[in-house]
Amino acid sequence: MILRKDASRDARYQCGIEQNGKHAMRQSPYEMLGGEQGVRALANAFYDAMDSLEDASQIRAMHGEDLGNIKEKLFEYLSGWLGGPALYREKYGTVCLTRPHAPYAIGERERDQWLACMERALRDVEAPEELRQAAKQAFFRIAETVRNQA
Ligand code: HEM
Repeated sequence: MILRKDASRDARYQCGIEQNGKHAMRQSPYEMLGGEQGVRALANAFYDAMDSLEDASQIRAMHGEDLGNIKEKLFEYLSGWLGGPALYREKYGTVCLTRPHAPYAIGERERDQWLACMERALRDVEAPEELRQAAKQAFFRIAETVRNQA
């Protein structure tokens, strides 16, 4: 299973899961999650985890009270990033996450809180083990790109 750097044929997506260095993907991560419904469930589960995990309180406080809008944006982003329709890019014209995160102080602590929420969400939607392992590294890399503090 490979989550390629050029997911959705867009090299600007910054993820990249490669296994055996080959492009031997039979199913995209998007498909492995069950397509649109599964990816939407993952985005929802991610923010539900952020809302409930005590350890995520610092990053929860960065967000507005209503998480509806951001759930939709994360779904759109992940759709393309995981190899499905590039909904975020089509809507916003870019997949660069640096600018939208710039107003927030994101250090290692915040990064790790974000990753813990995603790990929890992947478990909650019962993502296949193979995908969970590969996604961990790819999410780490993308989280590092939005980190703007030590
Ligand atoms: C590393 C820790 C991260 C923190 C603390 C963080 C926090 C935030 C915050 C506070 C916002 C704005 C929320 C709002 O408008 O109410 C946001 C937006 C967003 N985040 Fe993150 N984020 C992190 C990593 C990531 C990662 C790794 C991804 C993608 C895999 C991601 C995807 C998004 C998207 C798609 C948006 C919406 C951007 C837009 O407004 O167009 N974030 N994030």
